[in-house]
Amino acid sequence: ETIFLKDYTPPAYLIDDVHLTFKLDPTKTRVLSRIAFHPNPETTDRDFFLHGEQLSLISATVDGKACRPEIADEGLIIAVPDAPFIFEAEVEISPSTNTALEGLYMSNGMYCTQCEAEGFRKITYYPDRPDVMTTFTVRVEGDLPVLLSNGNPAASGDGWAEWHDPWPKPSYLFALVAGDLVAHPDSFNTMSGKQVELNIYVRPGDEHKCAFGMEALKRSMVWDEQIYGREYDLDIFNIVAVDDFNMGAMENKGLNIFNSSAVLASPETSTDTNFERIEAIIAHEYFHNWTGNRITCRDWFQLCLKEGLTVFRDQQFTGDMRSHAVKRINDVLALRGRQFREDNGPLAHPVRPDSFVEINNFYTATVYEKGAEVIGMLKRLVGDADYAKALDLYFERHDGDAATIEDWLKVFEDTTGRDLDQFKRWYEQAGTPRLTVTDHFDNGTYTLHLKQETPPTPGQPKKDPRVIPVAVGLLNPNGDEVVETTILEMTEAEQSFEFKGLAARPVPSILRGFSAPVILQRDTTNAERAFLLAHDTDPFNKWEAGRALGKDTLSRMVTNGTPPDNAYLDALMAVLRDDTLDPAFRALALSLPGQDDIAQTLFDAGLTPDPDKIYRASQTLKQTLAQHLQDLLPKIYAEMHVPGPYSPDAEAAGNRALQGAALSLLSRLDGGSAASRQYESADNMTQQLGALSCLLTIEKGEAELAAFRTQWGQDRLVMDKWFGLQVTYAAPERAAATADRLTKDPEFDLINPNRFRAVFGALAMNAAGFHDPTGTSYNLVADWLIRLDALNPQTTARLSTAFETWRRYDGDRQSLIRDALERIQSTPGLSRDTSEMVGRILNG
Ligand code: ARG
Ligand code: ZN
Repeated sequence: ETIFLKDYTPPAYLIDDVHLTFKLDPTKTRVLSRIAFHPNPETTDRDFFLHGEQLSLISATVDGKACRPEIADEGLIIAVPDAPFIFEAEVEISPSTNTALEGLYMSNGMYCTQCEAEGFRKITYYPDRPDVMTTFTVRVEGDLPVLLSNGNPAASGDGWAEWHDPWPKPSYLFALVAGDLVAHPDSFNTMSGKQVELNIYVRPGDEHKCAFGMEALKRSMVWDEQIYGREYDLDIFNIVAVDDFNMGAMENKGLNIFNSSAVLASPETSTDTNFERIEAIIAHEYFHNWTGNRITCRDWFQLCLKEGLTVFRDQQFTGDMRSHAVKRINDVLALRGRQFREDNGPLAHPVRPDSFVEINNFYTATVYEKGAEVIGMLKRLVGDADYAKALDLYFERHDGDAATIEDWLKVFEDTTGRDLDQFKRWYEQAGTPRLTVTDHFDNGTYTLHLKQETPPTPGQPKKDPRVIPVAVGLLNPNGDEVVETTILEMTEAEQSFEFKGLAARPVPSILRGFSAPVILQRDTTNAERAFLLAHDTDPFNKWEAGRALGKDTLSRMVTNGTPPDNAYLDALMAVLRDDTLDPAFRALALSLPGQDDIAQTLFDAGLTPDPDKIYRASQTLKQTLAQHLQDLLPKIYAEMHVPGPYSPDAEAAGNRALQGAALSLLSRLDGGSAASRQYESADNMTQQLGALSCLLTIEKGEAELAAFRTQWGQDRLVMDKWFGLQVTYAAPERAAATADRLTKDPEFDLINPNRFRAVFGALAMNAAGFHDPTGTSYNLVADWLIRLDALNPQTTARLSTAFETWRRYDGDRQSLIRDALERIQSTPGLSRDTSEMVGRILNG
């Protein structure tokens, strides 16, 4: 059944407050609810319906009188007065058999919850929709040392605890945790002088992995006060680490629940990338307290209202903590890798979708990452000062509301007087615009002609022109900047912009900072790209020029068998040598375009990508690059050595990134001897794992892999790396067999999403391995998705996106994939989540 945005109706009844009592038991948890309802004065609709799934109803009363509700598949219907009343119910649920990890479930003996988006209905009967907000009082009874819920602690005794959350919230922000946990405590003084108690709760044995997360939390709290004027609003803020979790983390009010991979960190077990991701996720969930919790979403179509904005905020935070240039490049890499892939395939949907079958399928790169890009464009268009004013107005006007994208845009209109009707298309139209640029120079005047076009996407054959902020700068032929970054505001399908009074034909630097999520198409030369790589003042476009060179070289190697372009190799050498450049930036410049990126580029050019050829060209290019840089690599490797004890800060991490990039090329020349030495001497996971990856890439490292397992067998998160690594670095013809072998390992665990993703997420990302022409990988993935679906629909549906690019490939591969997808689709009892995804992939 499809739900449409246009069918939104306000709730018939609202809630004054709710009291919940949990009597915890692995298979027979009792949930007692007392809900004070009143008719919603904003509507005449009086149909009373409470969501509820997989619940056994023990009893129900209305105003104290027992009643016999009608129980349907998805909820409960009952006659109620057209006046305030109290509904009470008792239900029984079984957390220990809940493998979907949605609602109340158990992970390693600990009780925990995940309610977003519609999981609360698996806990009790309730209007489980975000526009019904109320205050919660929760009593937790259980024979466990730690009993937590949202809000402030109210009272506790032996085997029970009560919590009260004074801030009205929707049910998706409810949380409960109970278990044998230990706290890593701290505290924070807010800008108005209130003291907040902070805790990170973990399983005994993980205490030494909390310090970094706690520091990140405090930095996030300071940052939100300083940059957005947002103060924390409860006496306590708790974070809990859970091993079995479908996503990264969840912003439940005052009780954030995290996938342990997104919070636990130590130098010995976590890489620099892990540290940075943890810092970003802690910030993200904390920032939701204002953008998500105090102001929430009216309905799930508005998901980007909280997610796009919160991602944008966490990106700003990371930029401020580390490097804006490096952060922007990494964000664009992720956007192109996941969102462009989605936007240019069968799963394309608008940032604000207008229909869905299963909302869990819309926690996508489009809603999150493109949602953040849309906010970045808005900020670029109105300027920093008006952005700040608009945000102040947003918080002032909508605090306590369940709001919409219309509300969001209105604060910008009211602040700036701008009409944002056309801008709104960014929320409504799916697909990535192609921005084609041509130019000419005549008598001191330089003209840029811009043309935009968005290809059709499922359900949206025709697209209207959007507002595109195009940041442009001009350089003169000696490499000096003659026109600083200017925002061209494109609103038409085709438009020209003039720059007057120039002495010579300039070299344009277009889409600086990646000012809009579009695909820039412009005929240019490699000489010009090399010029920009050397001279552009915009760090993003400087990197982008190198990237474009790399893409051009690789694409020509794949399609014409051309040898690697020397201009590209020389340009990379110049970047590598330039020690005025940030090492993290140099490491990024050195990384080659991914194989999936090349496949999409070739497909866009009307060709059929061959994953094997792309793989082989990438290998050749890396080998040639290694040889080209052979004198420089040992020097860089030595120079980038970070002395002293490990620190995850951006500068040290940047040095290690460049050192790792050098090592990976060096390993292709020295047979892995430097990598073996690094493996032996490493005192941190970044260098241990980096060295092991280099060895596996050159088909060595067998002994190290075994030693790694012996060393880390007891650490779940490190073992996820051990699983993932082998699939990631398997040669294409061995990828499926490696994944298959790992599923037979005693440590493989279908129930644990991190472990499942370590194997199958990695297989899907090993482009040539996944697209093995025999179809073994397709079949293996299909087999395991079918098995997992019966246990965990959300993670299954998410991983089915491995197949979303299938129409790019040749007829043989397409028919193998079609068979695999049809086999999944015809599985009896397939979940709504997976069947929606597979259906869209097949038919979109
Ligand atoms: N709101 C959470 C976050 O972005 C993610 C929740 C994901 N929920 C889901 N059903 N996929 O931080
Ligand atoms: Zn979020």
